[in-house]
Amino acid sequence: MDWGMKNRLSRLIQADGKALFLPIDHGYFQGPTHKLEKPGETIKPLLQYADAIMLTRGVLRNCVDSAMNKPVILRVSGGTSVVGEDLANEAITTSVEEIIRLNASAVSMSVFVGSKYEHQSLTNLATLVDACEDYGIPVMAVTAVGRELEKRTARYLALCCRIAAELGARVVKTYYCEEDFEKVVDGCPVPVVIAGGPKVDSQLEVFEFVYDGMQKGAIGVNLGRNIWQTEHPVAAIRAIRTIIHDNYTPEEAQSLFEQVKAGKA
Ligand code: R5P
Repeated sequence: MDWGMKNRLSRLIQADGKALFLPIDHGYFQGPTHKLEKPGETIKPLLQYADAIMLTRGVLRNCVDSAMNKPVILRVSGGTSVVGEDLANEAITTSVEEIIRLNASAVSMSVFVGSKYEHQSLTNLATLVDACEDYGIPVMAVTAVGRELEKRTARYLALCCRIAAELGARVVKTYYCEEDFEKVVDGCPVPVVIAGGPKVDSQLEVFEFVYDGMQKGAIGVNLGRNIWQTEHPVAAIRAIRTIIHDNYTPEEAQSLFEQVKAGKA
């Protein structure tokens, strides 16, 4: 592997082999998402606890201080919206020159396996990988399901992750599933990070799925709404960080969460 690629990956995946990515890219198809209306404000207290942030060029340029020192994972696919016909009909939205200009450490894009636009999104991935590999920039593939959240079974996710890795993704982001998640990770030759999905009811539930996903081989998370849409985002991200980097159990993480919430840690 080339030095530049290795260096970028090492900025994202920490020395312990783990990673906590904080995504705030939701506006690229959802508009001003709840609690992300002002992305710069949302991330201000959270940034220090994240290993990288994931966002589009528009939010990066307009809402994030250029002196901040966290690596950037640039979302470079889009062209659809929640009120449009089909979320899967994405294109690549950012040139390699722009990716380099913005000093991105990686890029990410969605693939929609099994959708009407499967071929388009997968060939977009291959084309993006070709363009980015020339400059040592890793591509993180996002296995997207659009509105069909029920698709998130191990069999389907394993299929998506493997295909994304085969097409050259250096990291794959996928959903967690309760049953057989280890099969998703085991069938994927590149590191897997877990996306959070819609906000769940209790904080402990998040700690439990992150913990279980890590036990089953994920290297970390790319978790947004279950951090910044919660009542106590700083307590949430700090607790999740301990599961990822300090091997905390869900109960230990919950205890830290309560302490931070109460201003005691
Ligand atoms: C989808 O809109 C984006 O790719 C998000 O980055 C991804 O879904 C992770 O965010 P969340 O944890 O909110 O699902």
